[in-house]
Amino acid sequence: MSLESLLNTLSDGKFHSGDNLGRNLGVSRTAIWKQLKKIEALGIPLTSITGKGYCIEGGLDLLNKEVIHANMTAQASQLVSTLDVIGVVDSTNTLAMKKAMKGSSGYVCTAERQTAGRGRRGRNWSSPYGGNIYLSVVWEFAAGAASLDGLSLLVGVVVVDALVKAGLEDVQLKWPNDVLHQRRKLAGILLEVTGDVAGPCQVVIGIGLNVNMPDFASKKIDQPWTDVNSILDDSISRSQLLALLLNELMPKLKEFERTGFAPFRDRWQELDAFSEKEVKLIFGHESIVGREIGVDNKGAILIQTKKGVESFSGGEVSLRNV
Ligand code: BTN
Repeated sequence: MSLESLLNTLSDGKFHSGDNLGRNLGVSRTAIWKQLKKIEALGIPLTSITGKGYCIEGGLDLLNKEVIHANMTAQASQLVSTLDVIGVVDSTNTLAMKKAMKGSSGYVCTAERQTAGRGRRGRNWSSPYGGNIYLSVVWEFAAGAASLDGLSLLVGVVVVDALVKAGLEDVQLKWPNDVLHQRRKLAGILLEVTGDVAGPCQVVIGIGLNVNMPDFASKKIDQPWTDVNSILDDSISRSQLLALLLNELMPKLKEFERTGFAPFRDRWQELDAFSEKEVKLIFGHESIVGREIGVDNKGAILIQTKKGVESFSGGEVSLRNV
């Protein structure tokens, strides 16, 4: 019996006795007990009550490859070369970086849990089992790193547009690519580049989207956050949402390859949570304060200061509300 089949049975959120589990899965109670320990070790809260058995309270919405494929458009499916749906991984971005090589465009991986999920600026990304979406996509850009300006902002737009299709409202972006709902973080994006900086390079696009964040995992998050299913009246499955993300992302990557960020700039600005607001930009020990007036065609942020309009780009800059 695999751990997956036990998790599948328990994913309904109901109580199952050790005897029944053993009988249905064709193994001894001891074997079940050993697997239950593994489930606990994954960080999944398991309730056990004498006489009733075992239950994962609230159930688990596990990823389902068939459901993902069934909900993908023909256009997106064509652009996905491989879809790896994994149980536990250190980080889907780390895995995708290993797969990223010439001709690897369209490699996609997603996992139930990341043990070392990575956020921007060296932060940790909370990745509990079965809770959220952890997705990485490899795409190759023939023109090299110079053609990637604004790509991370485009991915922000893509995530918002997928969420709109899922029925969410009031989703906005914070430069460069934090996805917010009423100023709480809903998703984060981490881009990593490998290959030849001057020639063809591969980009790993990592998306972490909070869907059903369990209480125990949320305690470690050090910023205001929210998740999709506490916003929606009718909850959506992670597999359906993942397909919506790929449906938006894959064709847009192809388009971006041709056009760059410029055609997506207006949409980004429409979604900008800090448009015309007083903001502080922090880079290392330095900072400037000014009015945020949008982004340029390369995705750099434009700040109106006493000196005039200044533009800033780059990974180490962070934006705060004043
Ligand atoms: C951020 O700090 O806002 C970016 C978070 C990116 C998290 C995603 S989850 C999938 C992929 N794998 C990782 O280790 N990180 C990214």
